[in-house]
Amino acid sequence: MFARFKKPADPASRPTVTAPAAPGPAAPGPAAPPAATVRPRPGTPGPASPAQAVAADKDKKRKERLAEIKLELHGRLLDNLNLAALEHATEAELRAEIAAIAAEALEEMGVVLNKEERAGLNQELYDEVMGLGPIEPLLKDDTVNDILINGPRQVFVERAGKLQLTDITFKDERHLLRIIDKIVSAVGRRVDESNPYVDARLADGSRFNAMVPPVAVDGSLVSIRKFKKDKLKIDDLIRFGAFSEEMAAYLQAAVATRLNIIVSGGTGSGKTTTLNALSSFIDNSERILTIEDTAELQLQQTHVGRMESRPPNVEGKGAVTQRDCLRNALRMRPDRIIVGETRGEEVIDMLQAMNTGHDGSMTTIHANSARDAVSRLENMIAMAGIEMPLRAVRAQIASAVNLIVQASRLQDGSRRMVSITEITGMEGEVISMQEIFRYERLGLEPSGKILGRFNATGVRSHYSERFRQWGYDLPHTIYEPIL
Ligand SMILES: Nc1ncnc2c1ncn2[C@@H]1O[C@H](COP(=O)(O)OP(=O)(O)OP(=O)(O)O)[C@@H](O)[C@H]1O
Ligand SMILES: [Mg+2]
Repeated sequence: MFARFKKPADPASRPTVTAPAAPGPAAPGPAAPPAATVRPRPGTPGPASPAQAVAADKDKKRKERLAEIKLELHGRLLDNLNLAALEHATEAELRAEIAAIAAEALEEMGVVLNKEERAGLNQELYDEVMGLGPIEPLLKDDTVNDILINGPRQVFVERAGKLQLTDITFKDERHLLRIIDKIVSAVGRRVDESNPYVDARLADGSRFNAMVPPVAVDGSLVSIRKFKKDKLKIDDLIRFGAFSEEMAAYLQAAVATRLNIIVSGGTGSGKTTTLNALSSFIDNSERILTIEDTAELQLQQTHVGRMESRPPNVEGKGAVTQRDCLRNALRMRPDRIIVGETRGEEVIDMLQAMNTGHDGSMTTIHANSARDAVSRLENMIAMAGIEMPLRAVRAQIASAVNLIVQASRLQDGSRRMVSITEITGMEGEVISMQEIFRYERLGLEPSGKILGRFNATGVRSHYSERFRQWGYDLPHTIYEPIL
């Protein structure tokens, strides 16, 4: 019936049916289990009456049994499918094949499922064989930004800036490890006890990190930052309240007149998104080189060269660091250099590039305020082993960086640009800064939503003359605060 993708028969290795506590005969009838209709989520309040308790218990058992059946079927599929032949099959053929093998196995096991359950099971089996198993639906769900797995029993997602526990689980740690292995081996990497963590980019562009036991104590830890095909644009960000129109006009002038910009922020605060959106203000005639650990940026200009650093291979060789890319980039005649995130020794080359003719360069940094971002830069320089007096380090930073944009994820989940700060030079030992725009919190709605507004601080930009000379004559009213 499904000869094309089925392995040649091997009578000796027919798998034995063990898992399902199936009712005896294969025929539907009184012995057939009732359809599972209610799927309680973990954490939902317990049933109120004994009848409900019985129904919930039945439902739980039914669910467990379905999971067992799935496991058994999956084993059979792996035994029966000719994986080499699968490569050339169309999706429809594969689905038909899986459905056919499943139907045959179910019949053999004497299990009767309703139509809905069968469709669900077939989809899950397809995801197991071809995709990433239980998390496949989350990868397809556009409302999910992050997927965070803490061992096989806990899968969290982030939607609209908030973390939520899902009812998705893996069968056990081995199941989770199998999926992790599938992901990393597809990109030619390995993860095991001697190599317990890995960073990778999924086929769809999503950023993937995993750490496996024994370093991960309670089961493998996985984090996935979903890749968004349609990156948020400046207009979207204004619409979502990430910053105001005045701030956008100011940022446009800053990018177009080639100020060096650092986007600072905490984890998942929207740094990369902001960097990507800011890059849209770069003129189409410029040559831009981007350097990232995981290629996430999507620039719209014509003349873009993208680089991605590479970790060492299993023998510990072949690493290409961001710093290597950056040094090479300087020989590639860039007009601007964009480094996805500065986190280490590449800081030296980044600052030098900003200081020596590649103005208009941009990067992000993990820090909680503009001041903090500067301290982080100082620390990175010190950690890179550069012996320079602090004042010289600061002078280098002050002349390289013009603007620090602070992104933040607020407690209600909203992501906002909470401050735009200019670096204006040095006063003695200290880098002088002035804040131009900020987000002012005004209160809290009963729903927990933060009330606030973007406001100017009343300080006129240090660069307003430069903006004017370059043809970006911003009205002085944008610097006036609403009182
Ligand atoms: N203003 C915004 N409104 C809604 N969603 C946003 C906003 N900014 C960013 N996001 C979404 O939030 C997620 C995290 O954003 P992003 O990758 O830019 O953060 P990040 O600060 O670079 O994170 P990391 O520290 O992990 O690199 C993405 O899925 C992105 O689409
Ligand atoms: Mg990022």
